[in-house]
Amino acid sequence: MRDRLRVVLPVVAALAIVLGLGWSWWQSLVPGSYSVMDMGYEDLGGGPSMGGMHHEGVSVTSLVADPARAADVRVALTARKESFRLPTGEQVDGYTVNGTSPGPVIRAVEGQLVEVALTNANVTDGVTLHWHGVEVPNAEDGVAGVTQDAVAPGKTYTYRFVASRAGTFWYHSHQVSHTQVRRGLLGALVVTPRARSPLRDVLALSHVYGGKATVNGHVGADEVPARPGEKVRVRLLNTDNAAVRVWVSGSAYRLLAVDGYDLHGPTAVTDRAVLVTAGGRADLEVTAPARVELGAAALVVGTDVPKGTQPTSTLDLLAYGTPAPLGFDPDDADRRFRYSIGRRPGFLDGKPGLWWSINGHLFPDVPMFVVAEGEVVRMTISNHSGAAHPMHLHGHHAVVLSRDGERATGSPWWSDSIEVGSGQTYEIAFVADNPGVWMDHCHNLPHAAQGLVAHLMYEGVTTPFRIGHEGNEPE
Ligand code: C2O
Ligand code: CU
Repeated sequence: MRDRLRVVLPVVAALAIVLGLGWSWWQSLVPGSYSVMDMGYEDLGGGPSMGGMHHEGVSVTSLVADPARAADVRVALTARKESFRLPTGEQVDGYTVNGTSPGPVIRAVEGQLVEVALTNANVTDGVTLHWHGVEVPNAEDGVAGVTQDAVAPGKTYTYRFVASRAGTFWYHSHQVSHTQVRRGLLGALVVTPRARSPLRDVLALSHVYGGKATVNGHVGADEVPARPGEKVRVRLLNTDNAAVRVWVSGSAYRLLAVDGYDLHGPTAVTDRAVLVTAGGRADLEVTAPARVELGAAALVVGTDVPKGTQPTSTLDLLAYGTPAPLGFDPDDADRRFRYSIGRRPGFLDGKPGLWWSINGHLFPDVPMFVVAEGEVVRMTISNHSGAAHPMHLHGHHAVVLSRDGERATGSPWWSDSIEVGSGQTYEIAFVADNPGVWMDHCHNLPHAAQGLVAHLMYEGVTTPFRIGHEGNEPE
């Protein structure tokens, strides 16, 4: 008897392990095509359920800008896969928009209706455009398989939205985005205030093409003319997968805006760098001549100045500027979610590995955060995964309430791209005022492709689109 047990027990144990592994492997398989509405599990964040996730209700396709209103700004963009030259002459094998990368800068005045016709010339995977940081109606969000089908070669798709907020934004593909964005399918969108600003504004879009750091497509440095003593608004855009520390030689700076929101009471800074999150934007006021360093590239404003020494500390946005009303009370929240990022062994679509987890779960078994229109939502984002994650919620800006328990005391810090370092916890809040099904993911895009993706869903909104169908592959 003893002897038999000695033989049987290990066999049973081994069998249990194999079956267990087989079960989690089987469970991890992502179906050939699926709706994000069937993904994972509902997380109500302590709020009421109005019947859960179902497939009746308002379709995302009906959440559009006023169809009767004529466009104020009309742009035609053509996406192409090709080998092209940067303005400084380097050859890049990637994607262009109207023949260049970055693509053309789209400019609008706040309140204008922007209409962009996107044509896919030859990208076999299909393309889309997502308007990063703009609170577009959900149908215009450009996420393949969630708000539209990827635009096939030879086809055109038109986006229409009101640029209701002045600020610095960008557009990029949200189809196979970890490849298409890295290789150039992107550009800037600048929305200027109705009242003409006394400051001239210049762009500094940073992107690394095949290992070459660029600003506005220029390897090394780009230059913009400015008179000595002239104040200039430099719109920094980080379109890469990692945060960049920006600092200025030759001038103090003021941080005027973050992620398209003006800061309140910004003061002059001399000895600190600004952290621009992956996907994030920062508008700096500098006085010419100045040299703005963005990682391995720079923007020269006016005549070049000698490069100073890189500041060792970073401006803390929790305490920069002065407080101002938020317009809502984050302490009176209707839903409280947690978005806890970890890393654990398991299977991702059948592949064994060490994968990002959300609240302990692996993609696609991740939370679907459910809200109702008008609610105040709080979210605690924590990260114990060993790597930093620039977290990006579509369709909304959230205000940062605290980091690691330290409360915000400066200007309201509204953001759409928050750098959550390993070991850090951010508390954020927002008003659910833009119905739809919205991605909430890491903007280090390979991480998103590795499953660091969840969604925020409004009660009663449904999507007819499917990931995997029509080649839709948003990450
Ligand atoms: Cu800039 Cu979901 O992305
Ligand atoms: Cu990440």
